Amino acid sequence: MLILGIETSCDDTAAAVVQDGSRVLSSVVQNQDDLHSPFGGIVPEMASRRHLEVIDSVVRRAIESATISLEELDLISVTAGPGLVGSLLVGLSYAKGLSYATGLPLVPVDHIQGHLMTLDLAGGTPLPAVSLVSSGGHTTLYHLSAEAPPRVLGTTLDDAAGEALDKAAKMLGLGYPGGPAMEKAALGGNASALELPRPLSGKDTLDFSFSGLKTSLFTWLKREGYFDSTTEGRRLPLSIADLAASFQQAVVDTLIKRCLLALKRTGTPNLLIVGGVARNALLRERAAATAVEEGFQVHFPPPELCTDNAAMIAALGYRQRERAAVDSLDINAYSTKALRSDFLTLSKTGAAKFAKKSAKNSAKIYGGY
Ligand code: KG4
Ligand code: ZN
Repeated sequence: MLILGIETSCDDTAAAVVQDGSRVLSSVVQNQDDLHSPFGGIVPEMASRRHLEVIDSVVRRAIESATISLEELDLISVTAGPGLVGSLLVGLSYAKGLSYATGLPLVPVDHIQGHLMTLDLAGGTPLPAVSLVSSGGHTTLYHLSAEAPPRVLGTTLDDAAGEALDKAAKMLGLGYPGGPAMEKAALGGNASALELPRPLSGKDTLDFSFSGLKTSLFTWLKREGYFDSTTEGRRLPLSIADLAASFQQAVVDTLIKRCLLALKRTGTPNLLIVGGVARNALLRERAAATAVEEGFQVHFPPPELCTDNAAMIAALGYRQRERAAVDSLDINAYSTKALRSDFLTLSKTGAAKFAKKSAKNSAKIYGGY
């Protein structure tokens, strides 16, 4: 079964073709870093406009580089939420139009659950597992099993880990997106140079908090005169590399500690780490070392599938194909962070009943491919 995935929940316009929920035939991601970088963060209105400009060419490129034709597709899977509503509506409206014109069934899926199931594309998702979704908008621990929908074990009480890295990078003048910028700046830095808190570390909780960490860095910089307008004000007793390394270490320590507690509490043998922050080399290294010390298995998707992409959306569409509709014009986008309970089915069973691809006629209406 060939599935076209479409993803526009934030600032990446993405389309992919995936075969049988696991084989990536193409994955095109067009980011908007050039657009948002001068602002140090995403400007939602600009993000939606850029999605609109590029969505058609991104989808065409995904189909072309999969070396298939539009007629060969069996299903369209699209992110319906959560995310920026203006951005989501671009991908969703495009997908609805394509579904209407071609008669292809359309399945709306949840972005976070897309991250959760990314390992479907990298050899399979081992279950049961504890899965950490760590991205720019989410830092949540889930328990995954074959029998039940994903269960939230803990989540951030304030900022996401990626958001904290983005904000710290902005303070340090490192640009956007902050995670990779911090990682690069931290190379050669001393991670113990600045003593930073490990929020909630003394508490028996699976929740996270990153705003205090961010404030600690801000307070230290302010005390050292970093934000003063005088030239002397910018002379710091520590290098940017030391500051980035110390901050990155605090984020990684916090994530690993909570994952370990979740594994112990649930007695689960597998840890999955997904989402944009899972690209981070220190996190990967620390998780692998802890897995050896503590006797569990850790699994990461390949780096290009950690950050937002449409291949994970197509893979999830395959799992949820029984929910696909041909008459789908009433699907709406949603911005909330909570996983939509009606979008939770993980089961691979349950025969999909597709309406037949309606007619070459409607494909002709869309034309062009
Ligand atoms: O999953 P994602 O692409 O989008 C959301 O769903 O939010 O994650 C983006 C986040 C950003 O906060 C970015 O700074 C962070 O992932 N990120 C990283 C790295 N690459 C991306 N954080 C740490 N190290 C990286 N190498
Ligand atoms: Zn994401």
